[in-house]
Amino acid sequence: MTDPLASFDALELSLSFADVEPGEGQRWTTWPTTIPTQRGPHPLPDWVVTDAGALDTELGILKTGKEADVFLLERAVPGDPAQRTLLAAKRYRGEQNRSFHRSAMYTEGRSTQNSRDARALAKKSSHGREVAASAWSIAEFDALTRMWELGAPVPYPVQVNGTEILMEFVGDDAGTAAPRLAQVRASGEELAGYYGQIVDLMRIFAAAGFAHGDLSPYNLLVHEGRVRVIDLPQIVDLIANPQGLDLLHRDCVNVCDWFTRRRVECDAEELFAELLAASYT
Ligand SMILES: Nc1ncnc2c1ncn2[C@@H]1O[C@H](COP(=O)(O)OP(=O)(O)OP(=O)(O)O)[C@@H](O)[C@H]1O
Ligand SMILES: [Mg+2]
Repeated sequence: MTDPLASFDALELSLSFADVEPGEGQRWTTWPTTIPTQRGPHPLPDWVVTDAGALDTELGILKTGKEADVFLLERAVPGDPAQRTLLAAKRYRGEQNRSFHRSAMYTEGRSTQNSRDARALAKKSSHGREVAASAWSIAEFDALTRMWELGAPVPYPVQVNGTEILMEFVGDDAGTAAPRLAQVRASGEELAGYYGQIVDLMRIFAAAGFAHGDLSPYNLLVHEGRVRVIDLPQIVDLIANPQGLDLLHRDCVNVCDWFTRRRVECDAEELFAELLAASYT
């Protein structure tokens, strides 16, 4: 005979799961709404939560930027501690709120396929601003994907959805973000090590025919001794973009200026020449 109390417990349990609803600052995971091209490269790291029962919880803002804001997000399956992950959510704002410093120079040579979108962009309507912001998020997601696949130290891109990119959070389990290189206190030896890592990642970009295009100690994070490069929407094609080599040169100067001031030996012209050579191999 079955124990009536045991079946009562099971009923309670299933009811309590059915009761889970997103609360304040929560939503259902947006993973199931994405299509394969909006998802990160395979193989997916084992920490990526793909369960449709997961909730996304806003944990606060990490940084407001010139064109996007970056938030800390938890994606977790309620009641399953094994399926919990922290993500950085980078949300692009519409064109009216962002500075135009990146726009024209970087987008030369790119086109908009959809003519309704092209007209909206030209008219600067609110749909147009949305299209522009999504174009930047897609550009950054694609750049992260490409560089991840080449083995560059970028945060793993989990998904892109409209104006929002979800990527690996670079920081600790408690939600403290890794410092930018600009804020790191390090010995001369450590700095020399970071410089070496930066040259390596610049070489990966160059060998693939790209420059970061906005490389600076603010777009490099240092986590557990490893340098990660972020903020890739404006990644520049060295050949197709007429400004490609100038932007690569500027990246070299930005990096070397910073290290030279900290007494790490670094010659921007030598670095530029080395990266150019790497780009032709
Ligand atoms: N994946 C990440 N993990 C941890 N922190 C991150 C991550 N991505 C971005 N950040 C934090 O958010 C800041 C802004 O990110 P990012 O540079 O991509 O955006 P941005 O809009 O270009 O900002 P800015 O205008 O300051 O350059 C970074 O400097 C970093 O502190
Ligand atoms: Mg930045």
